[in-house]
Amino acid sequence: MLGVFKKTAATYVARIEPFGIEITIPKGQRLLSSALTQGVKWPHRCKVGSCGTCKTLVLSGEIKPQINFGYVLDAEEIEQGYILACQSTLKSDVHVSIPPRTKKLKGKI
Ligand code: FES
Repeated sequence: MLGVFKKTAATYVARIEPFGIEITIPKGQRLLSSALTQGVKWPHRCKVGSCGTCKTLVLSGEIKPQINFGYVLDAEEIEQGYILACQSTLKSDVHVSIPPRTKKLKGKI
């Protein structure tokens, strides 16, 4: 009987570059929405996986895509580890990097 129910983490930690900050993401919550709720200035626009503005590189850890990223990202970007933060939940602690493509990134949380 013991061991039938596997203990799972209720939260994961996301380390976010270039800010060098760590935030806690509840299991099942999307990375972008949780980060925005916690005050992270993460570039975004549509929040539904169609604009690509939230494109983020996963340096380590595992995410679970909520849509097929291939509709927005090209095969090379996906191969390199890019994801859409607005359509990603976490499967582990992660270390991610937001590409430096906007002046807004110079701000902090
Ligand atoms: S905010 Fe538009 S794809 Fe994520």
